[in-house]
Amino acid sequence: MSENRIEIQPDQHIEYFESNTALMVSMNQDGEKNVMALDWKEIEQRGEGFIIRTQVAYSRYTYKLLTEGLKEFTINIPSEKISHAISITGSYSGRNTDKFQKAGLETIPGVSSKVPTLKDCLLNYECKIVETRKSDLSSHHFFYGKVLKAFASKEIL
Ligand SMILES: Cc1cc2nc3c(=O)[nH]c(=O)nc-3n(C[C@H](O)[C@H](O)[C@H](O)COP(=O)(O)O)c2cc1C
Repeated sequence: MSENRIEIQPDQHIEYFESNTALMVSMNQDGEKNVMALDWKEIEQRGEGFIIRTQVAYSRYTYKLLTEGLKEFTINIPSEKISHAISITGSYSGRNTDKFQKAGLETIPGVSSKVPTLKDCLLNYECKIVETRKSDLSSHHFFYGKVLKAFASKEIL
């Protein structure tokens, strides 16, 4: 675990979650990871836990990994230090580009998930996919992730 962050409840500091583009990390069955920029996300309480709802277009490599790869993902809210990664991860595809290398992104091994989180973020969430649903936007799909762990950078505490 990165020393620069502490574990939080998923509903703490959600103003940063709501007002920033996220970097979503997914992984195939062989452990190959990918990252993409994600604006369409919401967090909601369900029972005793929290769910992050994401909308991912069918055309994304991320969609393929979420449906055919591990049933987990991480949501990472970048700090200013890695804000350049949003345009890189949101314009190149993991089909033919190692976006971690291209954007200089470093990872932290997941605590409750096999999918890593990203360093230099304000918030990290490790999620397990519990539901998928077709979106009203015909080109997108909802992925609902139950939050297993949430972390906040000491920068915002
Ligand atoms: C600021 C920003 C926000 C984005 N939000 C979403 C989103 O919420 N859902 C989505 O499917 N694509 C979104 N995209 C587009 C994907 O990030 C982009 O198509 C990316 O290249 C897909 O990568 P992949 O093929 O490796 O999955 C966004 C792009 C940017 C720049």
